[in-house]
Amino acid sequence: MKNIAVLTSGGDSPGMNSAIRAVARTCAHYEIKCTGIIRGYSGLIENDTKNLYTRSVRGIINRGGTFLYSARSEEFKTKSGRAKAFNNIKANEIDGLVVIGGDGSFTGGLKFSEEFNFPVIGIPGTIDNDLFGTSHTLGYDTALNTATEAIDKIRDTAISHHRLFLVEVMGRDAGFIALNTGLAIGAQEILIPEVNMSSENLINSLKRSKSAGKTSTIIVVAEGDKTGESVFQLANMIEEKLPKYEVRVSVLGHMQRGGSPSCFDRVLGTQMGITAVESLLNGESRVMIGIQNGKINKTDLSKAIKGKSKINKELLRMSKIMNT
Ligand code: ADP
Ligand code: F6P
Repeated sequence: MKNIAVLTSGGDSPGMNSAIRAVARTCAHYEIKCTGIIRGYSGLIENDTKNLYTRSVRGIINRGGTFLYSARSEEFKTKSGRAKAFNNIKANEIDGLVVIGGDGSFTGGLKFSEEFNFPVIGIPGTIDNDLFGTSHTLGYDTALNTATEAIDKIRDTAISHHRLFLVEVMGRDAGFIALNTGLAIGAQEILIPEVNMSSENLINSLKRSKSAGKTSTIIVVAEGDKTGESVFQLANMIEEKLPKYEVRVSVLGHMQRGGSPSCFDRVLGTQMGITAVESLLNGESRVMIGIQNGKINKTDLSKAIKGKSKINKELLRMSKIMNT
């Protein structure tokens, strides 16, 4: 293996730069070439690349986003698109590819690897933490801290005005961010995609807290929560049923995906980047680098994509104890 390429694909996440830096510097350490692909699979199809040297990746470990840019490529979902990408891989004499992204990016990477018998290693980069085989994806820890800090600020207004705030956090299909930030900020209730908390239970919980003398309330709602209603519809429903509540909605949105990565994500990105290159050098392919109980591990890409990463429902039970 003489030339390893790296790309970032799908939603960006803090820590991606740390992983890119680690890939580039590990290649330099083993005296092989490192090729950065610009804008994910789109760049691979358009042959938009640049050589990455040790110095090319200086000053990026503390930066959010991705220095190689990211994209979503519809063309890569087609066989002809992937064939164009493979032609560029051959033209650039690339021997292996590190894909930093989420399950969509891994699905594309796996197809590409199988179709052309080409070595691909995945690094999980998403704030949603929804990949099987790793307790933490890159960016998740930073997003937790960002969301916690933001909700702490919202709480100031909730307390000052005796209001109920519904705060929507990211997580289209997974409740990891909602569950952990909810517990961290002392949410009255946490609504997530994995557990069906009916509207009736929500209303009863609010009635109980009102009669217990609680004057301000925060409910953390994951984007894809099971009620199937938007956070604005939930707010209307609460105001209709419990007119004593003055309800406000706050959608945290993409601010959760940006910002300087936490110490944890920088260290994780470094460990994952080094392990990805060393795995390719050892002849491995189609695995995702992850972390479990503090140790770097590897999971087959097919399992990482298809397996269900389970949220810790015990945290939901504990959150309820905190709100008695
Ligand atoms: P994420 O990696 O964050 O889950 P997406 O689901 O948007 O993000 O996927 C990123 C990119 O991966 C897509 O734009 C596409 O290029 C590629 N991809 C996703 N699903 C497939 C698929 N089924 N086949 C081939 N490529 C795919
Ligand atoms: O990165 C994952 C995620 O944050 C999801 O929770 C969210 O639904 C999605 O990205 C939104 O991404 P985009 O705005 O890039 O489509």
